[in-house]
Amino acid sequence: MRSTLSAETDPGLPAPANDRGDGSDTGPTRAAVILPYEKQPRGTGSHAFDAAPRAAEARLAEAVGLAASIGVTIVHQAIVPLRERRPSTFLGDGQVAMAKQAIDDQRVAVVVVDAALTPVQQRNLEREWRCKVIDRTGLILEIFGERARTKEGALQVELAHLDYQRTRLVRSWTHLERQRGGFGFLGGPGESQIEIDRRLITDRMVKLKKELDQVRRTRGLHRRQREKVPYPVIALVGYTNAGKSTLFNALTGAGVYAQDQLFATLDPTMRGIRLPSGRRAILSDTVGFISELPTQLVEAFRATLEEVAAADIILHVRDVAHPDTAAQRSDVLKVLEEMAEGAHAPLDEGWQRRVVEVLNKADLLGGVGAVPGAAAEGDSAIAVSAMTGEGLPALLDALDARLSANLETVRYAIPSQDGARLAWLYRHGEVIERADTEDDVQVTVRLSATDRARFEQPPA
Ligand code: GTP
Repeated sequence: MRSTLSAETDPGLPAPANDRGDGSDTGPTRAAVILPYEKQPRGTGSHAFDAAPRAAEARLAEAVGLAASIGVTIVHQAIVPLRERRPSTFLGDGQVAMAKQAIDDQRVAVVVVDAALTPVQQRNLEREWRCKVIDRTGLILEIFGERARTKEGALQVELAHLDYQRTRLVRSWTHLERQRGGFGFLGGPGESQIEIDRRLITDRMVKLKKELDQVRRTRGLHRRQREKVPYPVIALVGYTNAGKSTLFNALTGAGVYAQDQLFATLDPTMRGIRLPSGRRAILSDTVGFISELPTQLVEAFRATLEEVAAADIILHVRDVAHPDTAAQRSDVLKVLEEMAEGAHAPLDEGWQRRVVEVLNKADLLGGVGAVPGAAAEGDSAIAVSAMTGEGLPALLDALDARLSANLETVRYAIPSQDGARLAWLYRHGEVIERADTEDDVQVTVRLSATDRARFEQPPA
């Protein structure tokens, strides 16, 4: 999907700072990141894993990292202590003026305000600062748009973006204007223009939803095919930039895209691995989690959530060297907890027992021996460095042990027409022998006690 950052500017605004004829218009977009920091925690406190309020510096660093990942150059960053949110500009008058000074001095073209702005606040700030302003939701949508690697991911993000834009039409809708060749007039689109644009967006959204349905049906088919694969699934989850792709690569030897950019992963990727015992498993790399995920994007997580819900082990990759590692952990657990409550891809109640924590980036703390708390957790938290490979053999052993813990060998005769039950056994157990007769399939399978009980339970 296209980037709204590079060229789109309210037609009623002057040209961005980079185009001011001062010779700076060829380099990357110059950006400022402003973090309005509210001292009172805003959470409702209703969740068991509510995050501790993050240190402002760590939040600013995260916002700067997010902004940098869309290829802008950050030339100014600031924390703005907020006493109250002003309806017109979010920030106070003095704060707006102070930022204006820095924006002018640094010839900033885009300001990222790390907060949820209303369309009116966004427009007013653009007028005051005479440059483009995007809020956290806009930024994350932008990033997801660039990172989407599958058709489904790309469609979901575009849908989310349109939904977001629809409420902001008053400000500008230069994308559609440009398509119609109407860009460049002063004063912005008239009321009827906005109506037309709104309809165009709605039409496009309807079309996208149809396409998505089609893609999802195809994905459903693929999933059913995969369910016949007799391997347990290990799903990697974790806060964005924790090192999931790096670990995935280290464990599978695959060349999956890994780089120092947040959200390098949007769509699940799966690869087979062999554990030390010889047992095979499927490793599934998933999207990076993030605090305050825009609601428009929750849907875009559906594919990921389904992979996680179906996984035998949820491998929670953490950046233990990050100053905010505890809050990141809470954020990820909170998303999973919501999944367990949600209707879309419900996790079963015992999901916590399926979690293994990987305390990654141990090299930055001086090696796995120096990671606090790892030893105390037994095999449910394992310190590694995906980068140097230290700790990976222990991690593989722990996964092996988890998967083969308390397996019982059982024999079943499954009626030939009952493909679903057979597939279930392949999915959850280790089929060690199979004989197909005319009427049924005789299987000898190694199952955990829980799975055995689940399988033998009479249908409700
Ligand atoms: P998202 O796709 O954004 O969710 O990121 P991710 O969790 O897949 O992280 P990724 O593997 O892309 O790694 C992010 C950054 O951390 C990269 O610069 C990696 O090189 C770095 N990194 C990953 N593992 C380690 C590690 O063990 N030690 C160190 N020092 N850096 C690491």
